[in-house]
Amino acid sequence: MTLPFDGAISSYFEHDAPKPVREAISRADKDDILDTGYPYSEEMKRKAYDKEMERLQIELVKMQAWAKETGARLALVFEGRDAAGKGGTIKRFRMNLNPRGARVVALGTPSDREQTQWYFQRYIDHLPAAGEIVFFDRSWYNRGVVEHVFGFCNNAQREHFFTQVPAFEKMLVDEGIHVFKFWLNVGRAEQLRRFMKRENDPLKQWKLSRIDVEGLARWDAYSAAIQETLTRSHTATAPWTVVRSDDKKRARLAAIRHVLTHLDYARKDVKALGATDSRILGGPEIWE
Ligand code: ADP
Ligand code: MLT
Repeated sequence: MTLPFDGAISSYFEHDAPKPVREAISRADKDDILDTGYPYSEEMKRKAYDKEMERLQIELVKMQAWAKETGARLALVFEGRDAAGKGGTIKRFRMNLNPRGARVVALGTPSDREQTQWYFQRYIDHLPAAGEIVFFDRSWYNRGVVEHVFGFCNNAQREHFFTQVPAFEKMLVDEGIHVFKFWLNVGRAEQLRRFMKRENDPLKQWKLSRIDVEGLARWDAYSAAIQETLTRSHTATAPWTVVRSDDKKRARLAAIRHVLTHLDYARKDVKALGATDSRILGGPEIWE
């Protein structure tokens, strides 16, 4: 079977990737963090990760029980470049939850009909009812970044989006929905390393798309679009939480811990949550 992008990633690595990116990847051991600005040089050890994750999982189960009992509604938005680890983080959130009350919403390209609707309309259909936790794997923020970088929307549409998004999110929050917006931040070399792994893994190849392949050369355009999006949609009501995700393990723990820390659920064990690692998770100021 020939895959649509067979070899495109490794070819980019060999011929087009900036030299420092290529060198960082070639030099690195499996557990090495590639980004020199990252606060740790190695991935978190599996044993420590498992232990912390188990404690957090127990708290997540309590949190869902609380949501069901009280009718709380949660909307968690996961954004970030391709291969930032959105899907993997959501998977860890949901690992021990009742899937009926913990849905993933990963919408595809808008249909011709959806293209003619109010931009937020198709997302509204998926907002949580009482007791539900909804995980948005990508969201309305497509308009701020990928749609802009690939020309799927024009500037007027994007400006209109930026005008509306704070008001839209304020309505959700005023309505009583707990809104969390995560931006997972992955470095250039780490993203490429993950793409190469996907290209070589028959079980992961489905995750690669034309957008990923063509996006490689558009790193800087993405950076500008992300910076602008974070700046223009970081509000007191619905702030961004940036998670440095070059180490997937630390990122997952940090995101889960953040949600649990900010909810007032029953039987909360504050000690089990542990402290926020402010070098891994913070506001837009830690995005780079
Ligand atoms: P994912 O990373 O979610 O697996 P892709 O990398 O293929 O998916 O695409 C990134 C995002 O860009 C997706 O949310 C997809 O719906 C969106 N997208 C792709 N093509 C278009 C298009 N023609 N118009 C609007 N959005 C698009
Ligand atoms: C992503 O962030 O590219 C996807 O959601 C898949 C993942 O990396 O887990």
